[in-house]
Amino acid sequence: MAWRWDALPILWILIEGAFSRHWAAWMPQTVSAFRETCVAIPCTFDFPEDIRPSTVHGIWYFNSPYPKNFPPVVLKTKTNTAHEIYTGRTKMLGELQEKNCTLQIDSLNPDLQGKYYFRTDLGGYNQYTFSEHANLYVLDEPFVVSPQEIVSGSETELTCLVPDNCPDMKPSVTWLDIEGLEHHTVYARLEESSSAWTHISSLKFLPSHKNNGQRLGCKVTFPDTELEYKGYVTMDVKYAPRIVDINSSTETTEGTQVAIVCVVDSNPVSRIMWFKEDTLLKEDYAGNLTLELEYVTFNHDGIYVCAAENEHGATNKSMGLAVMYAPWKPSVNASVVAMEGESVTILCNTQGNPAPIISIIKDKQVLNSVIFENELVLEIPSVSHEHDGEYWCTAENQYGQSNSSFNLTVVFSPFVLPESKCTVSKDTVQCICTVKSNPDSVITFEIPEKNLTIGEMDPEFVLSQRNGYMVSTIMTLQKEREIPKEVLCTASNLYGRKAEELPFQETNKLVWAKIGPVGAVVVFVILVAVGGYFIKTREKKNMPESSSFIQTETSPMSSSSKKNLGKVENQFLSISERVLLNKRQQPPAVDTDYANIDFSKKNVKDGFTSEELTEYAEIRVK
Ligand SMILES: *[C@@H]1O[C@H](CO)[C@@H](O)[C@H](O)[C@H]1NC(C)=O
Ligand SMILES: *[C@@H]1O[C@H](CO)[C@@H](O)[C@H](O)[C@H]1NC(C)=O
Ligand SMILES: *[C@@H]1O[C@H](CO)[C@@H](O)[C@H](O)[C@H]1NC(C)=O
Ligand SMILES: *[C@@H]1O[C@H](CO)[C@@H](O)[C@H](O)[C@H]1NC(C)=O
Ligand SMILES: *[C@@H]1O[C@H](CO)[C@@H](O)[C@H](O)[C@H]1NC(C)=O
Ligand SMILES: *[C@@H]1O[C@H](CO)[C@@H](O)[C@H](O)[C@H]1NC(C)=O
Repeated sequence: MAWRWDALPILWILIEGAFSRHWAAWMPQTVSAFRETCVAIPCTFDFPEDIRPSTVHGIWYFNSPYPKNFPPVVLKTKTNTAHEIYTGRTKMLGELQEKNCTLQIDSLNPDLQGKYYFRTDLGGYNQYTFSEHANLYVLDEPFVVSPQEIVSGSETELTCLVPDNCPDMKPSVTWLDIEGLEHHTVYARLEESSSAWTHISSLKFLPSHKNNGQRLGCKVTFPDTELEYKGYVTMDVKYAPRIVDINSSTETTEGTQVAIVCVVDSNPVSRIMWFKEDTLLKEDYAGNLTLELEYVTFNHDGIYVCAAENEHGATNKSMGLAVMYAPWKPSVNASVVAMEGESVTILCNTQGNPAPIISIIKDKQVLNSVIFENELVLEIPSVSHEHDGEYWCTAENQYGQSNSSFNLTVVFSPFVLPESKCTVSKDTVQCICTVKSNPDSVITFEIPEKNLTIGEMDPEFVLSQRNGYMVSTIMTLQKEREIPKEVLCTASNLYGRKAEELPFQETNKLVWAKIGPVGAVVVFVILVAVGGYFIKTREKKNMPESSSFIQTETSPMSSSSKKNLGKVENQFLSISERVLLNKRQQPPAVDTDYANIDFSKKNVKDGFTSEELTEYAEIRVK
């Protein structure tokens, strides 16, 4: 459609004697009307003062000002004739005598669109075709004007331009499809430009992103006719980005492939960015941006922000990506060597998502555990040799399990177990000394009265048995005339030295002296029998007591101590050992007392409860 509203306006100047007169005509450069309606082309003209015509005639030509070209005559007043296409459609509205050449054309159709020239005939040679002319546009639809930019949220005005140049028919203008527009108002006004009139209907509203791409219409009707003309405009509403879709927070596992999508609606297209903790990961000018994580690791765990911006605004939305993974191999203390009595702190450190259950295990017993933590501390306020061993730290969540081990080596000075003793047989004196220590001790037997020390290098000395940290040694002396009065077992390592007199079957020795070898053997046999009974009874009696001992120990490891002490050991020994251990914390002066297995005396010193004491007393009575 060639019709242009913003055509240069011509000044429509009515000059009434202000200037000396000359040939001139005034008419709108452009005049528009709807097809099948009519148009009045307003026109006035003037001629030099000196011409005083008796009659004034006029001719309207179509498309050419020159009669020689035989342009179609729109209307010739002198003969009241017209070219056949104009016959019956045209009339002179203006009074030519009054220099008013206004022309009306009815039943417009597109063929009539073009330039209209006026020629006046004042008689004789005074004929003049004015170069000023009107361009007639025959319209099928009104022109809807929208502002250069429609921005969401700022008031916008659309106008519908309806030429109103037909004196017989007045247009009526309505807007179509405006129901959804926010705060819309419509008002109309008439505007004149060089005597051409335009009915302007304004539609004001607050556009939103929803109106982008919406088609609005302007409808022109003419009362009492069926005529209807519609013009449309499709709105291009600019708006700030809106994130219309983004993955919700997601849980995944390590090693998976994850794509998170951010879909943005904006006009114009936005710059979309994916951030993780202020680090820009990806950006693009697009409608959506997908962040692809090819191989998810725990490092990908976090909050992801999709931000979008264009010249009309910015927005962002975030989503969380939780990466689940099995706990890492726990890091634990390197193997630890501790002195007995020291406090030891063991740290087990790992990482998993969700936070794992961590346990420290020794000998299949859980010593300590935490739930949903990444760290576990095991504190042993005062280590004893029972704490010695291999520890495992295991960490577990629903995605897996891992563990690490470390060794706690408890070093301690030697002690001689009470099973150590000397026995006298027919031909020999045999002394057994069982020593527990870590590291291993150097064990020797000493016979003070003979100034004799028998050690590893001597033939009498045999290393008989090794069981964990326990070493049993045997010294065998060929019987001589005199049986040694006193045999000491000494053991020493880096951490201490112990000299223990071995119980020497004292009664045996006395009887030996008094009643001779045969009697001694008899007494010995009786003693062995009685001793066996004694030991057996104690064993039974002490069973429950041993558990009460155990309870006094703080560490849960105690119950596993049996294993360490070895299979051959009986409960009685284990208890004795405990007594010994207990003793060890007492001043060392009492060491030699052990030679005499007199529990009723010993126990009082050791602070046993009276109940326990009673039991021991009873045993002794039996
Ligand atoms: C010319 O004539 C038309 C039609 O009668 C009229 O509407 C218009 O006002 C006239 N123009 C002038 C300048 O008098
Ligand atoms: C995110 O959404 C897209 C499309 O909706 C989907 O294909 C993708 O798997 C989702 N990603 C995650 C991690 O859920
Ligand atoms: C997200 O928007 C908030 C305000 O709505 C702003 O403070 C923040 O800086 C934005 N974040 C990013 C990554 O653009
Ligand atoms: C074990 O490691 C932790 C942390 O490194 C430390 O504090 C602790 O003292 C260590 N324990 C031992 C027995 O070395
Ligand atoms: C702990 O000791 C055992 C044997 O005593 C050994 O097999 C294991 O490798 C040790 N572990 C560490 C962590 O040193
Ligand atoms: C024992 O040996 C020490 C020196 O080692 C010596 O002084 C002492 O006289 C010796 N005693 C006997 C009885 O031989």
